[in-house]
Amino acid sequence: MSSDQVLIFDTTLRDGEQAPGASMSISEKLEVAQQLARLGVHVIEAGFPVSSPAQFDATRLVAEQIQGPVICGLARANEKDIDAAGKALAPAKKRRIHTFIATSSIHMEYKLKKTPDQVLKMAVEAVKYATQYTDNVEFSPEDACRSDLSFLYEILAAVIEAGATTLNIPDTVGYVLPYEYGQIIAKLKENVKGIDKAIISTHCHNDLGMASANSLAGVSNGARQVECTINGIGERAGNAAMEEIVMAIHTRPDFFPNITTGIKTTEIYRTSQLVSQMTGFVIQPNKAIVGKNAFAHESGIHVDGILKKRETYEIMTPEMIGLEGSKMVLGRHSGRHGFADRCKQLGFNLSKEELDAAYLKFVEIADKKKEIFDEDIAAIISDESRGIEQTYQLEYLHVASGTGTLPTASVKIKTKDGVKLAVALGDGPVDAAYEAIRQAIGQSPKLEYYSIRSITEGKEALGEANVRIANGKGQVFIGRGVSTDIIEASAKAYVDALNRMAAAETIKQNETKVQL
Ligand code: KIV
Ligand code: ZN
Repeated sequence: MSSDQVLIFDTTLRDGEQAPGASMSISEKLEVAQQLARLGVHVIEAGFPVSSPAQFDATRLVAEQIQGPVICGLARANEKDIDAAGKALAPAKKRRIHTFIATSSIHMEYKLKKTPDQVLKMAVEAVKYATQYTDNVEFSPEDACRSDLSFLYEILAAVIEAGATTLNIPDTVGYVLPYEYGQIIAKLKENVKGIDKAIISTHCHNDLGMASANSLAGVSNGARQVECTINGIGERAGNAAMEEIVMAIHTRPDFFPNITTGIKTTEIYRTSQLVSQMTGFVIQPNKAIVGKNAFAHESGIHVDGILKKRETYEIMTPEMIGLEGSKMVLGRHSGRHGFADRCKQLGFNLSKEELDAAYLKFVEIADKKKEIFDEDIAAIISDESRGIEQTYQLEYLHVASGTGTLPTASVKIKTKDGVKLAVALGDGPVDAAYEAIRQAIGQSPKLEYYSIRSITEGKEALGEANVRIANGKGQVFIGRGVSTDIIEASAKAYVDALNRMAAAETIKQNETKVQL
């Protein structure tokens, strides 16, 4: 690595997935990891293996299948966690164990109930223990930005001595401002003994909307790894967004002279779409870099300026993030081969059965729509093969509504206990369909959020519905459904969320829940 290369450590599959409702199935995680490898990230944090069998399996699968990036697993500073990470990562050619323990007074006193000396000892022992699995060991003093600086100097010097090669500085609660974060990194560089033997890494949360700015301030002050997620997903307000950091470094070489990230920026848009589809987290239209409006110009003055000289209102081009690729259009005559090719280019690695099912759906939609865009294909695929066990399958839906009539829905749902039928009235057609689904399956989770939007343009556009339901035990689940019929898309989204809720309940029976 050249000294001016900033390593991109992607934690979409670990910290990103900790966002409420963002959980991905194992096959979805593998698809995201494949796309992250195409994007050129240096490190993929694939999971927190000790936390559940599903996390272990996902980390192991990514370790087995993904070539190129270093595959990393998270572990608290204890032997059980490190053993789980070591085992899950064993198949990876390049692996890293990331171990952490909190160092702020508030965390040590109230959460860990340990003294600083005990924490320091645990950190050193954990790093030493991890070196039996790999010489690539990362240490994080959790809540570093609210920790006493002199304690940080001491613990970081001790873990370097014990074998840590990356020192990650988390702003766990997104508390500090860019100048402060930059100063913390500068002071660590100045005061930690042996710091030149390790790489300093940023890990910023977005509670005050500063995550990307703080990460960049870290880079300006000597950090050479940035931990981030695609679309900035993550706990609470999320993590630093990869696309923002990479494009800021790329667009402002005057501020970041000779600094490179090695990221293939033309894969950014595709990765962003894939993560949005896999997690069900819709990207806000005005999201920097990857939002639908990020390169859209509407006001007359702006459009006129752009036509005269693009740079008047654009600091980067859509092509740089791979947007021109999304204009590729398929149609009814493209054939199975063309469809399969495009799926591959979009990062979907489908088995023959999955491809067959997706192709049938493609043909069905191509009969209704003249042009099929990448967004349509991604929607078809994520609808067909999301790796979530289909506890409930919507077999039939009929909705009657109109002026002067009471909206009525009848549904037929296939479950493990046979086919269930129900008829219900509602305030509107979607409400009636949801009521009928609830009656058919005998469950009433709270509907917390519902949205519908068209993914593509034109009167035959695909409608995408997103819902969030809560099971009353503090867990929320997101569901997504796509169809040219918006009532059907809404019903599919609801059933998708119910399937995720059912899958989580099955997993929960086998897992030990671990709190960070
Ligand atoms: O935010 C945080 O402190 C973390 C650590 C586990 C690195 O995610
Ligand atoms: Zn974090």
